[in-house]
Amino acid sequence: MNSFQRTLVTTALPYANGPVHIGHLAGVYVPADIYVRYLRLKGENVLFVGGSDEHGVPVTIRARKEGITTQEVVDRYHNIIKDSFEGFGISFDVYSRTTSKIHHQLASDFFRKLYDDGKFVEQTSEQFYDPETQEFLTDRNIRGECPRCHAAGAYGDQCEKCGATLSPDELINPYNAINGNPLTKKETKHWYLPLDQYQQWLEEWILQEHKEWRPNVYGQCKSWLDGGLRPRAVTRDLDWGIPVPVEGAEGKVLYVWFDAPIGYISNTKELCDAKPEQFGSWETWWKDPSTRLIHFIGKDNIVFHCIVFPTMLKAEGSYIVPDNVPSNEFLNLEGDKISTSRNWAVWLNEYLVDFPSKQDVLRYVLTANAPETKDNDFTWADFQARNNNELVAIYGNFVNRALVLTKKYFDGKVPAAGTFNEYDQATIAEFQNVKAEVEKLLGDFRFRDAQKEAMNLARIGNKYLADTEPWKVAKTDMERTATILHLALQIAANLSIAFEPFLPFSSAKLREMLNLQLSTANCQLSTLTWEELGNINLLKEGQELGEVSLLFEKIEDATIQAQLDRLANIKAANEESEKQEALKNWRPADIKENTNIDEFGKMDIRVATVLDCQPVKKSDRLLQFRLDDGMGGRTILSGIAQSYPDPSVLVGKQVLFIANFPPRKMMGIESQGMILSAVDADGKLVVTTVTAPVRNGSQVG
Ligand code: MF3
Ligand code: ZN
Repeated sequence: MNSFQRTLVTTALPYANGPVHIGHLAGVYVPADIYVRYLRLKGENVLFVGGSDEHGVPVTIRARKEGITTQEVVDRYHNIIKDSFEGFGISFDVYSRTTSKIHHQLASDFFRKLYDDGKFVEQTSEQFYDPETQEFLTDRNIRGECPRCHAAGAYGDQCEKCGATLSPDELINPYNAINGNPLTKKETKHWYLPLDQYQQWLEEWILQEHKEWRPNVYGQCKSWLDGGLRPRAVTRDLDWGIPVPVEGAEGKVLYVWFDAPIGYISNTKELCDAKPEQFGSWETWWKDPSTRLIHFIGKDNIVFHCIVFPTMLKAEGSYIVPDNVPSNEFLNLEGDKISTSRNWAVWLNEYLVDFPSKQDVLRYVLTANAPETKDNDFTWADFQARNNNELVAIYGNFVNRALVLTKKYFDGKVPAAGTFNEYDQATIAEFQNVKAEVEKLLGDFRFRDAQKEAMNLARIGNKYLADTEPWKVAKTDMERTATILHLALQIAANLSIAFEPFLPFSSAKLREMLNLQLSTANCQLSTLTWEELGNINLLKEGQELGEVSLLFEKIEDATIQAQLDRLANIKAANEESEKQEALKNWRPADIKENTNIDEFGKMDIRVATVLDCQPVKKSDRLLQFRLDDGMGGRTILSGIAQSYPDPSVLVGKQVLFIANFPPRKMMGIESQGMILSAVDADGKLVVTTVTAPVRNGSQVG
């Protein structure tokens, strides 16, 4: 069907403004690495390109927060990120950075070519401006109240609390994130990529020619296209980035989303220029139509990789465009959105310290739960269960039994097989069938199901030993025992191939145990190819096995609890700092639109004394009031429990309530009105009262 001769795989360049976390790994790097390892195992020509995204506002914000220079920030995190990827066996051919000289030159030339070819439009617009510091503010440096969830301190592009995508104009009371100054607007000139001019080409290329893209990707593209594309600014007023190579553009840099994807090209160039004999020319990888280009990304990157970057490539004219963009949805952590700025994450560099030699466990769990079609949740309980019940109990257990029994009965040498009986044959056939299935799934970027199938191979092995019971057979029939263990060992050898894309460290370890010593430094296994999967003659009779140890180890409750405790502490600290942020920036809400005495008169507000006040069972929000309202008494439910940990303090107090709301049932209890409370800056509710005692049932007006 296709005539591709090579595959170029790129992974989103992570911002060097913090370490990378499980969300990055699950969404982008593990699936890409599985894919690349699989292609390499099949002997295909593939290049795997990564790198750090070192421009943009997030890194400058981090610098300010840590009190160091922006260059120091990107140096620090580029190295941490690079080490984390290496630690997890993400087998990049090149991992470079967008502050490299090669990149600055290439991105600058790219912009200049489009500029010279008249591909941009120039436009002047009003942007948020801080009159005191005389700076234009980028979206990320503008904060204010979220128009959706009303959290304080939402960013101009996004609310970290509820995840809403925002524009700075939507923020309530926007202010400069750095100094808290209120903002004005001012005119500035920028260059725009006229996406609207490419709309028709994009529609044809994506909507017609790439119907096979994942539904989440295709759907997002379609909704952007259906909405009609508009020109997008590709320059910014900022002092960190690649200077706009045009006269009169002093103080302006390329927009980070313009330069970063060009980083894929620069990093390819850096590698190929350094080792042309091994990797060929960078231009073959980027310009020859027989190259298949695949971008692995997260869903917040879809528009940039499917619409903006392809438009840049198309406008330039000499480049290929991606063949597929397998984007994942998001991974949450224990029910909450992962967030670098809120420290809500499992950091890869920390995991590598806390769980030495357990890289594959995380790789496995993240693939098993990969957010391929919808957002998914990472929980430590699931991590433990998948390790203990799947890796240890199925894969590890099978391998361990096969090896230990061979040590015990055959002195650690691969025993000779007699004739395979019908059950053996069926097992072999079943095993061989799975190969085609795994291939199909990997070809479709369905890594989660592919790994499940690989696990089924281990299940087949495990079941084979459970059914044939060689430890019992050994009491009477050593020849049959030899056959069983021979086949079990061959299956184990096969598992080292099937799992190599997914669990490369375990495959290396397994091969050492089987004395199929093939591992090399970067945990890149050699010699055995994918085609040998299903071959039951991988191990030679009489071959000595290596040292036996456990392939996977049980993870204890205490280990998991330590991680949960860590998260609980972070959550508490976040809640405290959010409260502080809210208090710091609090201003009274705007006055509502005018009303009049008649409208007000419709409200029947009365005074009552609290006779009793109790939390409502199974609700963490509601308090149940029993009131003496001077009219025989009434019950009212009020959602203020969070503000009154000890509701008995309200008993005996006079309160104000609305008496003429229709009764309403909540949690099976009828509430007859509403108690009036004031909302403080931190969201705390305080019940209102009168300044001197009055008769219950008195009207307020
Ligand atoms: N740094 C971006 C992010 O983390 C991704 C950039 S991908 C690239 O969301 F294509 F621009 F490099
Ligand atoms: Zn919000």
